Amino acid sequence: MYYTIRWDGDSVSMLDQRLLPAHEVYHTCTSHLEVAAAITDMVIRGAPAIGIAAAMGIALAAVRMTVSNADEFRKELLQVCDTLGKTRPTAVNLFWTINRMKKIIESGTGVQDLKARLEKEAVAILEEDVTINRAIGRNGARYLADGDVVMTHCNAGALATGGYGTALGVIRAAVEDGKKIQVIACETRPYLQGSRLTAWELLQDRIPVTLITDNMAGYFMRQGLVKKVIVGADRIAANGDTANKIGTYTHSVLAKEHRIPFFVAAPISTLDPNTPNGDAIVIEERGIDEVAYIMGTQIAPEGVFIKNPAFDITPAQNISAIITEKGVIESPRDKGIKSVL
Ligand code: MRU
Repeated sequence: MYYTIRWDGDSVSMLDQRLLPAHEVYHTCTSHLEVAAAITDMVIRGAPAIGIAAAMGIALAAVRMTVSNADEFRKELLQVCDTLGKTRPTAVNLFWTINRMKKIIESGTGVQDLKARLEKEAVAILEEDVTINRAIGRNGARYLADGDVVMTHCNAGALATGGYGTALGVIRAAVEDGKKIQVIACETRPYLQGSRLTAWELLQDRIPVTLITDNMAGYFMRQGLVKKVIVGADRIAANGDTANKIGTYTHSVLAKEHRIPFFVAAPISTLDPNTPNGDAIVIEERGIDEVAYIMGTQIAPEGVFIKNPAFDITPAQNISAIITEKGVIESPRDKGIKSVL
């Protein structure tokens, strides 16, 4: 059985998601700089998973630091927090876990005590995440009916979290309830999280999955072959507008046109009451090679102008419900996210 990320005492090990599905290889980080690079380079990705990785990067820096002066120790660790906070801008979970770790760093205890507490907190963040995802699954399973065909985009599964997943967690919980669910995984260009990761992890669990390219979604919806859409989120603004993988917005518009319920599944740590609406969410722009190349093969002419926004905003009015571990916000356009905070 694979794992997404593991704390090994003086290193952090993560399944190298750049190499899936062809190779199942674990990537070991022995410094916070290696963890930061792993997040930026997509060794690990998915909002909760990069939050866990950042927390472990901070703990790693702490346990390996040799300074004995508590003030100096704290100062260096706050710089570590800054470095990890600059890895990816959109998923708020990254900042949520860094802030959790900062609270401990800023509390006034000695170096040895801080090291132990930071290590404990990072491991707790990982373990809590799996419990949270199971609760999201339980809260969401009732929205899926026996026989449903459920479309998803990107990967909001075990690989994007500490385990079990958010959107895929809801599907897993429905399957555990004995419902027959078939999944349509959208390929998710340019980085192919749908084909490389979602299809891979569902096959591991023997959950029936059909892979389509992103531009086939409307075709299947129009034929009545998609009963629900469920996706994860990177940041949900106060009014319910949701940032998720590029292409999510397009699916939401198509779902609305075809009157297909569109669900977002996410932990409370993805909710950002300080961001009023989707327009205020920073969208990460990634390198053009992700568009110009597929797995090392050039697919665009040299010199062509390329854009690569990694996320888009699905407006709250296109979302039927936001499923969290603390409850479900039905019709978020009317209520925003207050009810679960
Ligand atoms: O660029 P990625 O692969 O980190 O993007 C991931 C997504 O957009 C996921 O849908 C989101 O983080 C939710 S993961 C539970």
